Amino acid sequence: MINYTKNRNVAILSWNMTSSPMNVLNDDSIPAFEAALQRAYDDADVKGIIVTSEKNEFIAGADLKMILRNNDKDPAEMLKISAELNRIFRAIETTGKPTVAAINGTALGGGYEACLACHHRIALDNPKAIIGLPEVSLGLLPGGGGTQRLPRMLGMEAALPLLLEGKRVSPKEALALGLVDELAVSREELLEKAFAWIEANPEPLRPWDERDRKTGKIVGKENFKVPGGGVQSPTGARVFGAGTAMVMEKTHGNYPAPLAILSCVYEGLQVSMDRALVIEARYFVKVATSKVAKGLIQTMFLGLNEANKGISRPKDIPATDVKKVGILGAGMMGSGIAYAAAIAGIEVFLKDVSVEAAEKGKDYSRTVFKKAIERGKGTPEKAEAALSLIKTTADAEDLRGCDLIIEAVFENRELKAQVTQEAEPMLAEQGVFASNTSTLPISGLAQAAAKPANFIGLHFFSPVDKMQLVEVIRGKQTSDYALALALDFVKKIRKTPIVVNDSRGFYTSRVFTMYTAESMELLKEGVNPVLIENAGRAAGMPVGPLAVTDEVSLELIHKISGQSIKDGVLNEDDTAFQIGGKFVELGRLGKKSKAGFYEYPADGKKFLWPGLGELFPLAENQPSVEEIKKRLLYRQVLETVRCFEEGVIQTQLDADIGSILAWGFPAYTGGALSFVDYVGITNFVQEADRLADAYGERFRPTPRLREMAERGLSHFEPTN
Ligand code: NAI
Repeated sequence: MINYTKNRNVAILSWNMTSSPMNVLNDDSIPAFEAALQRAYDDADVKGIIVTSEKNEFIAGADLKMILRNNDKDPAEMLKISAELNRIFRAIETTGKPTVAAINGTALGGGYEACLACHHRIALDNPKAIIGLPEVSLGLLPGGGGTQRLPRMLGMEAALPLLLEGKRVSPKEALALGLVDELAVSREELLEKAFAWIEANPEPLRPWDERDRKTGKIVGKENFKVPGGGVQSPTGARVFGAGTAMVMEKTHGNYPAPLAILSCVYEGLQVSMDRALVIEARYFVKVATSKVAKGLIQTMFLGLNEANKGISRPKDIPATDVKKVGILGAGMMGSGIAYAAAIAGIEVFLKDVSVEAAEKGKDYSRTVFKKAIERGKGTPEKAEAALSLIKTTADAEDLRGCDLIIEAVFENRELKAQVTQEAEPMLAEQGVFASNTSTLPISGLAQAAAKPANFIGLHFFSPVDKMQLVEVIRGKQTSDYALALALDFVKKIRKTPIVVNDSRGFYTSRVFTMYTAESMELLKEGVNPVLIENAGRAAGMPVGPLAVTDEVSLELIHKISGQSIKDGVLNEDDTAFQIGGKFVELGRLGKKSKAGFYEYPADGKKFLWPGLGELFPLAENQPSVEEIKKRLLYRQVLETVRCFEEGVIQTQLDADIGSILAWGFPAYTGGALSFVDYVGITNFVQEADRLADAYGERFRPTPRLREMAERGLSHFEPTN
């Protein structure tokens, strides 16, 4: 696991775990690392130690499965992990033998903390490697001394943003920031430089340590001066204050980790390293055993990895490879999809009503590439290569032989039927036809196809180049083969799929509209719109519900609810339909028309339309922000539960990932189904009942939720 060799009186500890694809810190490797270090300490011939790896990466971090396993156990178990790492890392600093991290590749989290504990850091200048402490993004904090060593090395001003944003950087950037001390161009040079440093520094001492005069032992200084000023210096106090304000503005206190990091730094920098590590461990246990860490690790790390592998793909269909894709409609969505396919090396035929219109769609890719190059990402050659893959046309004949055709013309059933009939015959023998519709049921659209089994929904989100999710919609007749091909395509263009069954609004639009619908109920009750918007953001939604309704357009919301009324699934007195209708009447259609719930002055920031006060007079008693937050979130969660029970969404993971990536459901909860575990199943059912009694049956928990509560279950197991 860790190969131990001796060369020129230096012990080389080279990580090479066979039990996992990457080197990680886990129950096996941590003791092995400690044993290898001990062997070097005990060998009097060994004058120094080099820590490196034989894999392409250095150490990718702590094994998150290990953290998750201990998340809801006795906190003492979690403390053991941190204590063990701290004992090992602190020994590197205090045993007296010069130790160099020869960072040959990616070093993240605990992997980089190991480097921080070494006396010197040399990184291989490998542009693929990433270095940093990203723990915060998973609800954790660096619990192996990272919150203490980084600010002591770089000063608070440089360290805090790295710790609070979990920034990951290339070796070159790491050198510029001071995260590493030197770069090497090859593995040979990496080792040579490490040997040289050890030779020149036989008795290294970290700046925060000193030798005890009586015993000669290395111990932490009690009065170490942090570069740039400690927490109590004027600069330190300013940086700390700004950091706290930034965290509160960004997280509304929903994420405990950044606040815990600030506390670690604040408290830790006032005491010796040995005592600071105890403080850090205490905060680490607090965040690592939190529901937030559980949700983030489960959904946004382990879950996302699973989803990207395509776990929902039918296993018995051989791998497919989309090499040529046709796109109908070079508007906002079509042009974005063309870009995403081209950068994945797929040949694209972009068709619109005229070549000029299609070229306009291609311009979108040109602009994205230009902007990327200006920001130093990508090269003109790469951009040219991708652009040359996009061919524009107005002739359906050019689509002959496509493995996949994606339709993204206007949202109109008749037009969609017409383009389907025109283009479907051009598909290759085993080709699949997909629609990017956002509202029209796939099974209905498939009726226009000659081969409805090869018809599927591929719902992209806008803007396509930034949005990672694709909602793959299975119509009634969609075959396993079509699903497999669609999922292979999504993987090839490096997006994340969720698979849903056909339904009104599919999964994402159906649940997302609950957020806007509930805000309209609140308006109707006379709740202050400022309060509604603040509560939406405080709950962790990216945008307030009224602002986002304006962005989607009140007209569209009115139209969609109107369609649902026609189809008999909604009543005329539906609040969103009524309010939408009123605003359409007033010509306030939303952001596009520069007037909706907000006013959009040409020369300034948007503000809530004062006329709202007349339409919705303020109620005498205003609810608390907490109550509004609850209504906005519970409404979405309950609709997600219904989608799950109806089989629209089939796994908890798809529901969670879809909610976070599609419409920004707050990630700290783990997603729209994990939310139930976040608040606790019993509590959830009780609160939903209370909300139903107070505001209406839309909040009533389903029988299955009650049953889960009785049995103490919080995981949603598919029934079929
Ligand atoms: P858009 O209005 O920007 O583009 C539609 C394009 O289709 C236009 O360029 C038009 O010239 C072209 N077109 C019309 N008839 C055609 C024909 N016979 N052959 C080829 N091209 C034709 O519309 P957008 O926003 O790109 O939407 C397209 C589809 O994607 C719609 O079904 C929409 O519901 C769906 N969608 C839209 C999202 C959005 O955020 N705008 C998000 C997800 C899906």
